[in-house]
Amino acid sequence: MGDVLRVLVVDDNDDDVWITTEHLAAGWPTPIRFARARDGAEALAMLSAERFDLCLLDHHLGRESGLDVLRAARARGDDVPVVMLTASPAHTIDVAASEAGADDYLDKCRVSPEALEHAVRYARVHREHVETLRRQNKALARLDREKNLLLGMAAHDLRNPIGVVRAYAEFLADNGDDMDGDEVRSILRAMEQSCAQMSGLIDELLDVSAIEAGTLVLQEKPHDIVAVIESVIADLAPIAGAKQITIELAAVPMPHVNFDRARFEQVLANLVGNAIKYSHPRTGIRVSVERAGEHVRVAVEDHGIGIAPEFLPRLFTPFSRAQRTGTSGERSTGLGLAIVKRIVEAHGGSIEVTSRRGEGSTFAVLLPIA
Ligand SMILES: Nc1ncnc2c1ncn2[C@@H]1O[C@H](COP(=O)(O)OP(=O)(O)O)[C@@H](O)[C@H]1O
Ligand SMILES: [Mg+2]
Repeated sequence: MGDVLRVLVVDDNDDDVWITTEHLAAGWPTPIRFARARDGAEALAMLSAERFDLCLLDHHLGRESGLDVLRAARARGDDVPVVMLTASPAHTIDVAASEAGADDYLDKCRVSPEALEHAVRYARVHREHVETLRRQNKALARLDREKNLLLGMAAHDLRNPIGVVRAYAEFLADNGDDMDGDEVRSILRAMEQSCAQMSGLIDELLDVSAIEAGTLVLQEKPHDIVAVIESVIADLAPIAGAKQITIELAAVPMPHVNFDRARFEQVLANLVGNAIKYSHPRTGIRVSVERAGEHVRVAVEDHGIGIAPEFLPRLFTPFSRAQRTGTSGERSTGLGLAIVKRIVEAHGGSIEVTSRRGEGSTFAVLLPIA
């Protein structure tokens, strides 16, 4: 025996109610529980008080129109499947009923167990499709808003370095003849730096959008994870050295782990890069590698500025940053962690953060070993 179908019949005429319920009960394969409303107000009250699988709605409710009742229900977001019943030939109201949010309509003089069974079945499937479309539209609208936001922030972040390059270019055009080689070279270097900053931002932006669009393709192979971490730390040593920050690696021998080497290096460079950027000079950073069950846990621990608890929920959102620069004025885009999280998750892993303001932070990545 199947589930009970909960049906609300909205009709002011007792005879009509009797006929439709008898026919539906005869045509529907599972048990039905009927409830009845006599007018629009009662129908709307019952629909909001209880969940129905179906509403059989009369077109003429005394002096009220069933269409108005239906519009009111849909306007407040009611998603009950509705079959509209009419005493006039159905084709005179079909378009209006459909526009008001009916899922099917049926001529009262054509009501039979088969016709009702068909209409109810069709109406329920139709409502499901409508609701799916509505959900997908909502999700698309949200994605669209996020894209616009991302674009707006990228444009904003690009405007600064472009302004710098332009100002220098103008300056050179106006005064280049009177300047000596060293002056010109130092301006060109500043221009080059601004360009590097812009292309860095664009690379990150392309990463975020590739990942978001699902076009990030991983080339996973077994690697000696400790060796890879060592090489990333070696690459970053000069930047750490400039702030007199030491990086210690604490690792035990590990089985080979499956990952995309370039992407994992990007993850680690971002985490260690952040640790350097948000640490004070002459402090230490510790990178540890250990086994945690079926995962390898790579943690980057710093004794830097820490992260405020209220900022933690936004940490991995593109372009979110707690301050505009690092402790020595390093540049910040707010894209690194958004990329990190998505890469880690694409590997079937996860990332966790613990941090105390003014004391330091630990970012731990968990990657499945197999
Ligand atoms: N180790 C850390 N210590 C303190 N704050 C951090 C650390 N890592 C990240 N943050 C905060 O999270 C923000 C986002 O980090 P990220 O996405 O890597 O952007 P960016 O490095 O460009 O600032 C940073 O701007 C900073 O406010
Ligand atoms: Mg970063």
